[in-house]
Amino acid sequence: MPRSSRPQNDPVETESDTPVRRDRDANHPETEVLTRGFDPRLSVGSVRPAVFRSSTFVFSSPEAAERSFAVALGKEHAAPNENTELIYARLSHPNAEILEDQIVPLDRGATSAAVFNSGMAAIGTVLLSLCRPGSAIIHTVPIYGGTHHLLYEMLLPWGINPIPVPAGDGPALERAIHETPNLRVVFLETPANPTLRMTDICAAVQASSERNEPARIVVDNTFLGPVFQHPLELGADLCVYSATKYLAGFSDMLGGVITARDPELIERLKSTRALLGNILQADESWLLDSRLPTLSLRMNHQSHNAAQIVESLADHPKVERIHYPMYFEEPEQRRIFSAQCDHPGAVFSLEIAGGKKAAFDFIRHLEITRNAVSLGGMESLACHPATTTHSEMSPEELERAGVCGGLVRISVGLEDVRDLRQDYLCALDSV
Ligand SMILES: Cc1ncc(COP(=O)(O)O)c(C=O)c1O
Repeated sequence: MPRSSRPQNDPVETESDTPVRRDRDANHPETEVLTRGFDPRLSVGSVRPAVFRSSTFVFSSPEAAERSFAVALGKEHAAPNENTELIYARLSHPNAEILEDQIVPLDRGATSAAVFNSGMAAIGTVLLSLCRPGSAIIHTVPIYGGTHHLLYEMLLPWGINPIPVPAGDGPALERAIHETPNLRVVFLETPANPTLRMTDICAAVQASSERNEPARIVVDNTFLGPVFQHPLELGADLCVYSATKYLAGFSDMLGGVITARDPELIERLKSTRALLGNILQADESWLLDSRLPTLSLRMNHQSHNAAQIVESLADHPKVERIHYPMYFEEPEQRRIFSAQCDHPGAVFSLEIAGGKKAAFDFIRHLEITRNAVSLGGMESLACHPATTTHSEMSPEELERAGVCGGLVRISVGLEDVRDLRQDYLCALDSV
């Protein structure tokens, strides 16, 4: 087991880092995110982009307006390297475009991206764009409560059928992919929220490719991506992110991102976005853009903290089980983790002896870690999924998915690891 595995994206000095001038295209992601997508000359020379808080844009001519509309409505195709003029901020705006360009190099395998005003807006847009009444969507279980609600309370009544498959059950997933009629989307949340169970992305891609009509493989990469897991490189069609979490990183905004290998797929999603009006607004796009250069630093540091804390809690007598990839018991889970992730990340779940009462006591006694839903921010947060984020699920569904009463999910932040360790040990003593 890679207990001492080190985050892979730490900048490490190697021979290839010697100052040899390389092609512009060969820059590393941390450089690309600071240099591409933004031309200071278009913002009176300022080093950071301006915020273009405008709902509409002035055309250079009526002909340019006509051409922009024809391309936006899909009546005509843009020529290679043609930049049609901006129309109206519900379709796109400069800050969204800068942000989309800068996200692409961070997600290996991506050629294009689209930004949304929340993770749920991104997920809703994908499913509405790819499915029709009669379509089926396979999804892993457990899954984030909002996604569960969207699938069962909104899409099911519209005739779109969700098919649940337990996360990590490879044979069940392959069977479902081979046998489900009208399958349009395979939605994998891996690692799963909150049990961290992993699903094999390559196996899903392979099974889908064996269908007469392959389904789109969509991965919710919020927990590990884009730093520690790269689904597009493994053949997935789309990655969705709640940018509210690690991408934004400061628990001060909502956002969603989708990345893709195929730019045409992103164009389809952008047409739906233009109708729904759920594009990320200029101020938030600017804010999110300024957080991207520190993403790898934050995720690496938070994940180092988490791995050290988990190690100190694993043998605690009041901890019945720890859900964290370094401590997976099933060989198949360990295999998937080593095959598709670079590091276990900064979220773990504890099963505390004594069920719901003990879990509540533990949370009540935390002094540094705050009792709040969400994750990925610089401050540590703890929540009780069965009664909050996953309370949409029935007691039977919760039990089947392993979301038990004693389970507490912790998102580790940037505090000093010694203080956090003490926080959890003291709270466990008080249970
Ligand atoms: C795995 C996962 N996906 C999607 C979402 C939804 O994101 P948002 O709250 O930005 O809409 C969340 C939110 O917690 C999540 O944990």
